Amino acid sequence: MKMTVLITGANGEIGHGLIDHLAEMDSVDIVALDLHPLDESLRRKCVRTIVGDILNASILESLSTAHNFDSMYHLAALLSTRAERQPPLAHRVNVEGTLNLLEIAITQSRLQGREVKFIYPSSIAVYGLPSLSVKNQTAKIRESEWCTPRTMYGINKLYCEQLGNYYANFYRQLDAEPTKGRIDFRCLRFPGLISATTLPTGGTSDYAPEMLHQAAQGNAYVCFVREDTRIPFMAMPDAIRALLRLEAAPRESLTQQVYNVGAFNPSASELYGLVQQAFPKTEVSFAPDPKRQAIVDSWPADVDTTAASRDWGWKTSYSLEKAFWEYLVPATRDRYRSM
Ligand code: NAD
Ligand code: SER
Repeated sequence: MKMTVLITGANGEIGHGLIDHLAEMDSVDIVALDLHPLDESLRRKCVRTIVGDILNASILESLSTAHNFDSMYHLAALLSTRAERQPPLAHRVNVEGTLNLLEIAITQSRLQGREVKFIYPSSIAVYGLPSLSVKNQTAKIRESEWCTPRTMYGINKLYCEQLGNYYANFYRQLDAEPTKGRIDFRCLRFPGLISATTLPTGGTSDYAPEMLHQAAQGNAYVCFVREDTRIPFMAMPDAIRALLRLEAAPRESLTQQVYNVGAFNPSASELYGLVQQAFPKTEVSFAPDPKRQAIVDSWPADVDTTAASRDWGWKTSYSLEKAFWEYLVPATRDRYRSM
């Protein structure tokens, strides 16, 4: 039996990696939705692609009528910098859009008479450390600590984690008859992600991938955070593995719905050191933007991934060195060689 999965935000960075991986499994039919047309390379890997807005309930309802989804990967969102520039729009897309998808998931669960899995990528942006000195004194942050975000994006993500929990456990709890069919909500709090094959837009962790991609093209880069800035990151193939692994984990092994994942946490100057070794002609200067800096300073320097390791066997495949020398540098070199 083939599984059918829905991916929203399918043309984004994670969507690219996820579709490539899922398409290699012959057992999965992919239905992909994005505001923008999917890249040609992705389109042929999907059984159906839809250009549409997650705020358009009728598009989602017609999708739901046409397909029985086993799992839904809800990736569509406005990331942190873009969300801060357009807070009401971010709230609509990140919160109301997620609510629309949760409604589709619960309708599908009821009609199919079984739990539909809802996989949701949250973010280290849900954390909000009050000052640099607290950040520097805080060891690897656990899921329950410092959930006091200071960005619209972080607030949206934290609230949607709670919405997922509600739809999974308490949906319409006052109804006379208990709701038939619940959703199986599973969430990862991702660190900043670095892909060799796509470029980020609209995030605040973007300085790391931007530095690498500019250097690989032989361009100078002005980094918008201080040299000592430290947050967790992960190479994109590990992010895709984490999503697939959490999706596949037996329900009974999961003791929580939201899990930190992370891989390495270099400072911006340590990143620069590696980029410079790989691309010695690189010119990087540091001109911190105080406002974007303040956002990154409120994010933790590292995350505690004990629960993910214990419950579903999370283990990173890419240390910083391995990510750089075996994935990021060769693949970005290839990407820009012909340009
Ligand atoms: P991205 O910006 O590359 O992709 C997001 C996609 O969503 C885009 O293709 C965009 O067109 C689509 N989209 C936006 N608004 C939409 C709408 N109204 N209707 C339909 N589609 C819409 O982001 P990404 O890096 O692929 O991130 C995917 C998810 O992972 C997001 O939820 C993001 O918050 C989360 N995440 C990403 C990172 C990261 O570093 N990339 C870190 C933590 C969490
Ligand atoms: N990488 C994302 C951002 O910077 C965090 O989720 O917005």
